[in-house]
Amino acid sequence: MANASLCVGLVCIDIVAESERFPVEDTDHRIPNLSYRRGGNASNSCSVLAQLGMKTEFLGTLSNSIQLDFIQRDFAEHSVSIEHCPIFPDCEFPTSIVILNACNSTRTIMHHPTNLQELGVQHFTNLNLNNYSWIHFEGRSANVDNIKQMIKFVRENSKSIKISVEIEKTRTVLGELLPLGDVVFISKEFSQFSGFPTMKEAVKGFIGLSRPGCIVVCAWGSEGAAAGQNVNGTDVVKCQSASAPCRIIDTLGAGDTFNAAFVYSQINLWDWKKGLEFACHIAGCKIGLKGFLGLE
Ligand code: FRU
Repeated sequence: MANASLCVGLVCIDIVAESERFPVEDTDHRIPNLSYRRGGNASNSCSVLAQLGMKTEFLGTLSNSIQLDFIQRDFAEHSVSIEHCPIFPDCEFPTSIVILNACNSTRTIMHHPTNLQELGVQHFTNLNLNNYSWIHFEGRSANVDNIKQMIKFVRENSKSIKISVEIEKTRTVLGELLPLGDVVFISKEFSQFSGFPTMKEAVKGFIGLSRPGCIVVCAWGSEGAAAGQNVNGTDVVKCQSASAPCRIIDTLGAGDTFNAAFVYSQINLWDWKKGLEFACHIAGCKIGLKGFLGLE
């Protein structure tokens, strides 16, 4: 699998309720559609990278439960390899109950982490790094110390592999991953939690905390996204507006799609400004589709 992209992080079950409006508490609410999907940020980003034509592998923990067959088949249908994922007995897959609200296109996620353990450093150091050109790490607050060791292992054993890191959830500890990526994706929520009211201010602020030459990317939902880099002592920042399909169908995983499309642009050595435009375009396509198949 030479030159493959690897995404390290979560795979979970998403039970997605598609509703015409947000339910009223303590009522019995009928919905037009319910789907059972493979989710998780790194797992979703893998589906998109594979769609874009990359050889793609997911690395995360799996549970030897009744859902394992569904998860394995779904990765295979999306052409994502899971050959190095450890499988644990006596546990369940983390599960999200998701409400997609057709009225305003929000996706509300209630997530239960279950008793599935996080990925250990030994699961990562078993890999043959020669197979990969890009490794993307989903920042997970329960696993920050292990992720830091995995990144250290890559830096010590490969000069060519590029690393991206995603900081999404509002947990202070995730900030420890900021200085470690060649590309760092920081969510609107984490940016606001860190005191930055706009995407431009967030990118500028985080450039100062990241690795020299790092590309900092902040997606800002329906407002679009910004990216930036310090070039010869000057911060260069670009803002890009969101691209909207004719009809918004499914916003679940739009951020994971954006990240994967930006990674794709960088694997292909595009200028990051062009990568930002492309990522906004692909995220716009995704919200016009159910799931991740059919992106273009
Ligand atoms: C979307 C997603 C879902 C999952 C949740 C986990 O970004 O990855 O697929 O249920 O977030 O936080």
